[in-house]
Amino acid sequence: MSGTDCVRVAAVGDVHLDADVVGRYRPALEHLGDKADLLLLAGDLTRHGTAEEAGCVAREFGGLAVPVVAILGNHDYHSDQQDAVASVLRDAGLIVLECSGTVLDCNGVRVGVAGTKGFGGGFAGACASEFGEPEMKAFTRHGRELAARFGASLAALDCDVKVSLTHYSPVPETLLGEPLEIYPFLGSYHLAQAIDGATDVGLAVHGHAHAGSERGMTPGGVPVRNVAHPVIKQAYNVYQLSVSTTLAPV
Ligand SMILES: [Fe+2]
Ligand SMILES: [Fe+2]
Repeated sequence: MSGTDCVRVAAVGDVHLDADVVGRYRPALEHLGDKADLLLLAGDLTRHGTAEEAGCVAREFGGLAVPVVAILGNHDYHSDQQDAVASVLRDAGLIVLECSGTVLDCNGVRVGVAGTKGFGGGFAGACASEFGEPEMKAFTRHGRELAARFGASLAALDCDVKVSLTHYSPVPETLLGEPLEIYPFLGSYHLAQAIDGATDVGLAVHGHAHAGSERGMTPGGVPVRNVAHPVIKQAYNVYQLSVSTTLAPV
C-alpha cells in the first residue's frame, strides 16, 4: 500500500451498443481518469451479440485512461458469437472475464475483480430446482455451476479488496420495479452465496434488470449495485471503495 486507502470504481451495464448508439457514452468517458481508477462493464454490451456490434463497443470503451474490466451479458450471447465478441473487446484492450478474475494496481491498492455473466434461477422461496424434466434440471444446474466457478475465482483472488462483477443479479432487492414473475430470469441466490463465501468483497455490481433499482445488499452484508444504464441513467456511476471494504457514494 502506498498510502492510498480508497479506490474509485466506475461502473455501467446494459449499454447495448450498435452503430446508432456509438458516441452516446464517449464524451463522458474522456475525463474518466479524473473521476475513477477503473471502469466495470456489467454485460449486455451489444444489442444482438454480433462481432460487428462488439466493434462498436471497442470504439466506445477502448483507449480510456483507466483499465476497463468487462463481462458479457445474455444479449452478447444471442448470435452465438460470444467468443468473437470477447476477442474483439480484448483486442481493444479490455479485460474480459468469465468465471475468472484479475487484479489491478490502483495507486498501490490491489483491487481484485472476479466476473461472470451468471444466470437465472431465482431467489429463496421462489427459485427453480434441479428436479423433473432434463430441461428444467439443465436450466437450474447451469446457474448453480456458473456461480460455483465464479465463487472459486472470487475466493482465489490475492488482493486488498475484491469486487464482484456479474450480469445477472445476486439479490432480489435490486430487481425492485421489475415484474415479480420474471425474477427467476433476472438473477440467482447462488451468486450471493458465492459472493458471501469469499472474504474481503467490498462491492457487487450487476446489470440486466433495466427496470430494477440501484441499491441492495447480500445476506452477508456486501453492498450490491445495479448499474444497468436505464437504472443509473448516466454514462457510469462511481463508487468509492475503501480497503476496509466500506462503501460510500461519491
Ligand atoms: Fe440489458
Ligand atoms: Fe441482460
